[in-house]
Amino acid sequence: MCPVNVVVIHQSRTGNTQRAAELIGGAVEAEGNTVAVRPVTNIDFKELADADLVFVGTWVDGLILFGHRPGDAGKVRSIPKLWDKSVVAFMTHAVNPGNAAAKLAGVLEGHGADVIAARSLNRRRLDVEAPTFAVEALATARA
Ligand SMILES: Cc1cc2nc3c(=O)[nH]c(=O)nc-3n(C[C@H](O)[C@H](O)[C@H](O)COP(=O)(O)O)c2cc1C
Repeated sequence: MCPVNVVVIHQSRTGNTQRAAELIGGAVEAEGNTVAVRPVTNIDFKELADADLVFVGTWVDGLILFGHRPGDAGKVRSIPKLWDKSVVAFMTHAVNPGNAAAKLAGVLEGHGADVIAARSLNRRRLDVEAPTFAVEALATARA
């Protein structure tokens, strides 16, 4: 299968989403693709322009039972416009993500992205959930 160029961008306060990004990056690389993992504050514009697939992740902010939304959405919006890029939205949460992943997908679509998948990952099960999601998203991107 043709290798793809992937960039994984993350916004993380306590390290969970960064860890998810690194696990996603590892799974993408293990499938024979090129990958760069970057915090939102350190994006390489050329690398992003050359990417075939971009993962964008942040944490779930909310009141556990309601009010779920992408954490630090302003920082997510600070990344360059993603016109015509295939984008995967990912998040990490503690107990209940509500509809935050769909909201992150909406933020990214507002940023020009073609969102092909969106999911929140439980911070206690990142080892399993992050690589599984990455492989599923890659398959969707290649379909
Ligand atoms: C202000 C605040 C609100 C949060 N709200 C929720 C929530 O509604 N549901 C949930 O499952 N986790 C919630 N969390 C937990 C975070 O989403 C979770 O710990 C996440 O993995 C943090 O990511 P980070 O380590 O990358 O910053 C909240 C955390 C904070 C700080």
